[in-house]
Amino acid sequence: MMKFGVIGAGNIANTFCTTVNEADVDAKLYAIGSRSIEKANQYKETYGFVKAYGSYTELFQDEEIDVIYIATPHGLHYEQMLEILDYKKHILCEKSFTLNHNQAKEIFEKAKKQNVFIMEAVWTRFLPTIKRLQELVKDGLIGDIVKVEADFCFQADKNDENRLFNPSLGGGALLDVGIYPITFANLFMGIPSNITSKMKKHHTGVDLTEEILFTYPNGQAILNASLGENRPLKGLITGTKGYIDVKNFFYTEQAFIYDQNNNLIKELHFPHEVNGFEYEIRETIDCINQGKLESNILPHKETLSILKQMDELRASWNFTYPQEKEE
Ligand SMILES: NC(=O)c1ccc[n+]([C@@H]2O[C@H](COP(=O)([O-])OP(=O)(O)OC[C@H]3O[C@@H](n4cnc5c(N)ncnc54)[C@H](OP(=O)(O)O)[C@@H]3O)[C@@H](O)[C@H]2O)c1
Repeated sequence: MMKFGVIGAGNIANTFCTTVNEADVDAKLYAIGSRSIEKANQYKETYGFVKAYGSYTELFQDEEIDVIYIATPHGLHYEQMLEILDYKKHILCEKSFTLNHNQAKEIFEKAKKQNVFIMEAVWTRFLPTIKRLQELVKDGLIGDIVKVEADFCFQADKNDENRLFNPSLGGGALLDVGIYPITFANLFMGIPSNITSKMKKHHTGVDLTEEILFTYPNGQAILNASLGENRPLKGLITGTKGYIDVKNFFYTEQAFIYDQNNNLIKELHFPHEVNGFEYEIRETIDCINQGKLESNILPHKETLSILKQMDELRASWNFTYPQEKEE
């Protein structure tokens, strides 16, 4: 049974812990690491961890742990992964994996040297609805894909203490929510040949809202991300023979496929077993059990490619994170 260590007793760690406990996965919650031992003990009690640590390093040193799930803000992932890899532990790291492409490249190289499995936790990629849609699109159900539209925009709590607006923690719409529309476009249209965008900055310096246009030889992707506007989620794939409405595209359980005359020709419905996190957790366990160093569903090159696209966007906005100035 795979023993998980979790660092960062925050928002998404709650979802992860619930999933490991409720899903049919061959894993157990072994240790929780927090900056505060009180919080770690609370988590231990709530989720049934065996161990609670009041520092991340103590958890990294625990020899019983097989794999560490990183549930801390983006700006901390790089340093944390460098340290974890010294202990030769497998890693599942929340998105965005690192602040930029170069940091991720260095991490993947070190992970290969240490012979451990490592993957970015972009749960969207592992959802059965997404995987089935990729097959149907590949088989030509809606012809050649000419357009993807995807929006992930919400009004975040505009408190300056919020990690989402803190440049040192890797805040900003792009790394937090923009990664999902960008992933969606890449899944169905591949790597864009050209990228343009408009961005509105928050007063803390991070990107608040962006409109992104990806151009492809035979089409385009129109993508929106925001931490400052409430808008409906949108995931639409248009082909020469029809279109697909992917409901709640980044955590989707359902998609409707139409022909060119707006007739519904197919409906997909794959309800989550727990909450949708179970698929990426199962993939992590399967890969480690098989001795794989990376997943075929989200290989290292995909994480690197998406980060390169996000680097290009930030370069066009002249936006760097404080840590990048030191690099
Ligand atoms: N897959 C998804 O659907 C999804 C959804 C939300 C977030 N995420 C990702 O998960 C990661 C964490 O997001 P979250 O929403 O869970 O964040 P959060 O609740 O704001 O913070 C997570 C934890 O990080 C730890 N932390 C360490 N240093 C910190 C610092 N200087 N400031 C603030 N927190 C610090 C804290 O845990 P301790 O105090 O216990 O050390 C905190 O509770 C991000 O990479 C985010 O993109 C993914």
